[in-house]
Amino acid sequence: MMKKLAIALGAVVVLVLGVAGGTFAWAKSRTSAQFSKKFEVHQVDFPIPFPLGEQELAQLRTERAGPPDADGGVADPLAGVDLEALAKERAIARGKHLVQSRYACTECHGENFGGGTMIDAPPIGTFKGKNLTAGQGGVVAKYTASDWDRMVRHGVKPDGTATVMPSMDYLEMSDRELSDVVSYLRSLPPVDNTVPEVVFGPVGTMLIATGQIRLTAETAPHQSPHAVEPPAENSPAFGKHLASVCVGCHNAEFSGGPIVGGDPSWPPALNLTPHADGLAGWTFDDFKRAMLEGKRKNGQDLRLPMSTMKTYAQHLTDAEFKAMWGYFQSLPAKPTQKK
Ligand code: HEC
Ligand code: HEC
Repeated sequence: MMKKLAIALGAVVVLVLGVAGGTFAWAKSRTSAQFSKKFEVHQVDFPIPFPLGEQELAQLRTERAGPPDADGGVADPLAGVDLEALAKERAIARGKHLVQSRYACTECHGENFGGGTMIDAPPIGTFKGKNLTAGQGGVVAKYTASDWDRMVRHGVKPDGTATVMPSMDYLEMSDRELSDVVSYLRSLPPVDNTVPEVVFGPVGTMLIATGQIRLTAETAPHQSPHAVEPPAENSPAFGKHLASVCVGCHNAEFSGGPIVGGDPSWPPALNLTPHADGLAGWTFDDFKRAMLEGKRKNGQDLRLPMSTMKTYAQHLTDAEFKAMWGYFQSLPAKPTQKK
């Protein structure tokens, strides 16, 4: 989230340093090498949508079980139920929730997924999020589960080359979550819109060459297996799973500090561990209020980029808030990172 701003400001830094001609030629050849390189990514497969799980089936049987008939026989409670349609309906609902509460694809692909803007600043480049609907100009009609895996969880396009789409927030996505997102996308009305290819400006070329625009393809593990399902909602692991989208700013230990690769005008991220610098003395309600209203415990407004999190937090369930809070409380108290 908010990588647009991060990249835009990195660009200013480079402009101040000045882009000398020779350097630029070097950057250009290095950048084109990065984008012609093919990445070896494992082949995965998963169903889209996921079928109903054992637990869901058991619950349906219990809900629908009728009394024995006159001869004492018991009818199959699932007879006549369209299990496939039900599985699809549930997958779409879960996918919608994931997109609205956590994954923020719409920031760059548009509210209707017909295409949007990641960066439109010619010196850096024009990076448009593609049309992910079934309409004209949509690019995912032929996508297999493996193509979705590579693009979203590895930052690698179906042809094996790197994309500028930042996938770091999605590395922890399980197969089922990705499948749910795809089911949701497939349920959306088609939008006719052809989105132009990514174009790099001179500054963007420099940023890629110097590693300030970090390509997920260069850093993601391409052979490690993914979890099939997310951790159970009531497990401590679920809180950690939810917090994986906060790491980019609050850091892997959640001790806060300056945001690496962020816009220099951003304040440091705050400490989310139970340390005196952090959330010591906070209650669950203080945490929830901070997330929903964008306010600190003392009532002060949270600034950009944290202020944008409200939009997503509104869609979190109470169980999700509790899991995240429980996870932050379980962390070792750490002082805020200074650098
Ligand atoms: C920060 C901006 C951003 C976010 C967030 C984002 N994307 Fe993208 N996405 C892009 C850009 C830019 C492209 C075009 C990339 C290219 O051509 O290299 C793209 C392209 C794609 C493509 C098409 C690649 C092709 O075959 O041409 C898919 C599929 C995709 N994104 C899926 C997703 C999904 C699913 C999410 C949410 C889980 C998401 N994106 C979130 C910026 C983003
Ligand atoms: C794009 C960067 C970014 C992301 C992603 C992000 N945060 Fe933050 N967060 C910040 C910044 C910066 C601040 C400090 C804002 C300020 O000082 O006004 C902050 C502040 C907070 C605070 C207030 C703490 C206090 O002491 O007042 C909480 C709580 C918080 N974040 C929770 C989260 C959670 C939970 C997530 C993930 C779901 C998350 N943040 C994701 C950047 C981010």
